[in-house]
Amino acid sequence: MRCAAIIPAAGSGTRFGSDTPKQFLPLGDRPLIAHTVGRFHRFSGVERIVVCVSAAHLATMQAIVDRFRWGNVKIVRGGESRQESVLRGAESLSRAGLGDDAVVAAHDAVRPFVSSELFEHLLAALDDADGAIPATTPTDTIHRIFNGLVVETPDRSLLAAAQTPQCFRLGALRSALERAIEQGWPATDEAAAVARCGGKVRVVEGDPRNIKITRPSDFEAAARELANWSDE
Ligand code: C5P
Repeated sequence: MRCAAIIPAAGSGTRFGSDTPKQFLPLGDRPLIAHTVGRFHRFSGVERIVVCVSAAHLATMQAIVDRFRWGNVKIVRGGESRQESVLRGAESLSRAGLGDDAVVAAHDAVRPFVSSELFEHLLAALDDADGAIPATTPTDTIHRIFNGLVVETPDRSLLAAAQTPQCFRLGALRSALERAIEQGWPATDEAAAVARCGGKVRVVEGDPRNIKITRPSDFEAAARELANWSDE
């Protein structure tokens, strides 16, 4: 089974309140994104990694690739949205010769604590599905709100908080993203687009360590967590 990864990292990261997008801020001895890419670089079977960055960060990303001498990491220019960035990454994998049945994992640049165990669970779950994603059951009650008022309270056991890596067959991912962009579907992850196209996306138990670094305080927690990951 041929396997590759796409790391969308073309976001401006403005929510974080820093001029530099958070994926390029230092965590320990290297930029955050270098931890994430390095993780996939060490996963066995991942033959190519595509990192999607904005025009302003092409040189920064190239310097990181050069520093770690990653021969199988390709940098592409991201698009206007996450969907477009991931689609550009997927198109680059097709151009590199990966077929529609190759497995591709889309993974947030800001989730450096992805374990090989989680990745292997996801690959195994793809056996009888078009996609496989990790997710956790929310511990907070989630309300649907409108104008600051609670409208509806879905049963928590029917909700899943999606993480990444989200794994799909390359052909299914490409066609779902093309359709999502064409139709203007809002989608904050790839699973939403693939499922809306009728694909079967299996959910596997997420990993609480696999945090998305979104706030400055997450950085502090990540710096502490880093000590547990040096050997993997
Ligand atoms: O912050 P948010 O969850 O919306 O972004 C998810 C990921 O998508 C981030 O890694 C971000 O860098 C990436 N992204 C992208 N291209 C865009 C917008 C976001 O690659 N145009």
